Amino acid sequence: MKDCSFRTHAIHGGEGRHAPGRPVSPPLHMANSFMTEADMDFSAERLTPDAPYIYTRWGNPTVAMLEQRVALLEGAEEGLCFSSGMAAITGLFTHLLGAGDHLIMSDVAYAGAVEYTYDLLPQMGVEVTHVDMSDTQMVQEAVRPNTRLIHMETPCNPILRLADIAAIAQVAHSAGALLAVDSTFASPVLTRPLEHGADFVIHSMTKYLGGHGDAIGGIIVGRHALVGPIRTRIGIHAGGVLSPFNAWLILRGLATLSLRMDAHCASTLEIATRLADHPRVHQVTYPGLADFPQVDLALRQMAGPGGMLTFQVQDGEAMARQLQKRLALISYAVSLGHVHSLIYYIGTDPMMESSFHLKGDNLRSYRSFAGDGIFRISVGLEDPNDLCGDLWQALG
Ligand SMILES: Cc1ncc(COP(=O)(O)O)c(C=O)c1O
Repeated sequence: MKDCSFRTHAIHGGEGRHAPGRPVSPPLHMANSFMTEADMDFSAERLTPDAPYIYTRWGNPTVAMLEQRVALLEGAEEGLCFSSGMAAITGLFTHLLGAGDHLIMSDVAYAGAVEYTYDLLPQMGVEVTHVDMSDTQMVQEAVRPNTRLIHMETPCNPILRLADIAAIAQVAHSAGALLAVDSTFASPVLTRPLEHGADFVIHSMTKYLGGHGDAIGGIIVGRHALVGPIRTRIGIHAGGVLSPFNAWLILRGLATLSLRMDAHCASTLEIATRLADHPRVHQVTYPGLADFPQVDLALRQMAGPGGMLTFQVQDGEAMARQLQKRLALISYAVSLGHVHSLIYYIGTDPMMESSFHLKGDNLRSYRSFAGDGIFRISVGLEDPNDLCGDLWQALG
């Protein structure tokens, strides 16, 4: 089973051995507690990997199947699910970082994660440096003797700028630090960060892994020695675990992940190419276009350019109101990575004020990808001709 291909693991990973009576499809264990021995040890600290299930915050068979499946897809030894992508990110931060430690954080990443590093981490006494991760030299220069973790996102939300995982892993390891990669936009179909030297991969499974816009969930995968302790300290004791029902929905979504990603990539390339010729559009950013500024890195690090694109127009705010009213197929909504196409406008100035606070070269780098503001499209699985038809009539 371990030697099977990605597509097979996406369907069978974590199922266990064949036996008469074993369900063919993943069973949903919607129970919060399990029958135990009378002399069961009541401390999560002494929980052994072979212990029977006791209580769903400690472990649940449906959630465990998902953890094993995503770990296989990422080439990891262990996975640990959380109630959301944010719970996974903040769980890792809380586990690894304490007063006096230093985090190097991507200056542009999912806004909620960046806001957390400006607010709660400093309150806990953690030092944070926000760095443009597309410039490995800047990451190197940000290293301090107390740097414990580098956290990066590639492609990063919302501007699709890439960062070189292998190069940054080298910086982290020569400083005695660990590297976490939020790979939500790529999914393990397009990039497997552990193969490039990362120590942790994080996913908001809310997006491509679940893929249907219904469940919310997050996961951390990595080596057993690194992920195991997080299970007790953060999963069980902080308690932000995944509901078995959401795990079941995400397992169902995973079965088609590689087929969906292929279709997302093909449709997005087609729409990006056509949008680049639209008279109202003055910049399209997509890692699959020849003019993408980091096309070499995209080819080296990604097996396909993904399902996200951005474009810019004159007076984006007015156009956002127009698109919100006129679009009939594409939903004007946040989130990404599922069967429905979604669009959202992200103005640069409001984003700087609320979340990123960039200045100087960092702001120039952001603007080179996003200008005054971008429309971010998560291209779904509808026919790309229909999506272009909807977008063209709405753009006017
Ligand atoms: C790249 C990335 N990471 C993490 C998150 C947070 O995930 P969740 O909404 O599941 O908490 C998001 C949400 O949009 C995201 O885009």
